[in-house]
Amino acid sequence: MRSALSHLIRSSSSASPSRLSSPVLLKNGKAFSSDATPRDSRLVDEPFKVEEAEPVKVPPPPPSPDKLLVLGGSGFVGSHVCKEALERGFVVSSLNRSGKPSISESWADKVIWNQGNLLEPASLEDSMDGVSAVVSCVGGFGSNSQMFKLNGTANINAIRAAAEKGIKRFVYVSAADFGLVNYLLQGYYEGKRAAEAELLSKFTYGGVILRPGFIHGTRRVGSMNIPLGLVGSPMQMVLQNAKPLTRLPLVGPMLTPPVSAASVAKVAVRAATDPVFPPGIVDVYGIMRYSEQK
Ligand SMILES: NC(=O)c1ccc[n+]([C@@H]2O[C@H](COP(=O)([O-])OP(=O)(O)OC[C@H]3O[C@@H](n4cnc5c(N)ncnc54)[C@H](OP(=O)(O)O)[C@@H]3O)[C@@H](O)[C@H]2O)c1
Repeated sequence: MRSALSHLIRSSSSASPSRLSSPVLLKNGKAFSSDATPRDSRLVDEPFKVEEAEPVKVPPPPPSPDKLLVLGGSGFVGSHVCKEALERGFVVSSLNRSGKPSISESWADKVIWNQGNLLEPASLEDSMDGVSAVVSCVGGFGSNSQMFKLNGTANINAIRAAAEKGIKRFVYVSAADFGLVNYLLQGYYEGKRAAEAELLSKFTYGGVILRPGFIHGTRRVGSMNIPLGLVGSPMQMVLQNAKPLTRLPLVGPMLTPPVSAASVAKVAVRAATDPVFPPGIVDVYGIMRYSEQK
């Protein structure tokens, strides 16, 4: 017994350090060295208890949802964009001159309302903080110069402010050409095209322009709901397959099919949040096509 022990001590002291320094722990708590000889194994074969380390599963933190800023979120189209974005799980803020609209609909309580005027650029800076994409639904009618300001200058201000903040995507709800009507509403269309040009130059990769014709849906005027869909939906049904007619001179563009506010909103939110949505102009047929996709 004594000679066996001294033999063990001798053989352990004569072993090279590298052979003894690299045992691997087995699951059963025993040690194993890949280069151990059968004689060496007597040295390390003693069972000893080692608690097996359990891998700790730490769930990754949920990604914080993107924040979408809807300019004109209280308007007809803007309210549909807010609702669509909320349904898709985004954080939604809006900026318009009168702030939170006086409606008692649950979606409105979930929007962060900012008061500001796009014609006074300083009033919109703060609302762009932490925003990943902007959808502008600001536009309207009036005298030619008012229309140019609202559809053009106001949106150009917003586009520049968003670009300066480093926001990656910007969607502008513009309007389709209406032939003769363009001439009658010169300020409106010139404003739209000026804003479009600014968007394409500042947001080469993340700028999307939607060009709907007439938009139908339920429009709120004061305390009344006007069901524009009663006229718009049948017109859409008739005109959506008559694209060649829109090429007729003068009257053709007036045959552009109407599209629902819900469809415009769906495409606007997707264009603002899907990084592979192609930049550029989406006409009414494109809006209808994209809105049918899941
Ligand atoms: N409705 C259609 O059939 C149709 C068709 C084609 C294209 N579009 C285009 O779609 C866009 C939305 O149209 P809409 O019918 O929804 O218009 P809307 O109902 O009149 O809404 C306009 C929104 O813009 C806000 N706004 C107006 N001036 C502003 C300013 N200077 N600064 C900040 N916010 C301002 C308004 O809120 P405050 O008044 O509180 O500021 C409102 O929230 C427009 O660009 C329009 O040209 C509409």
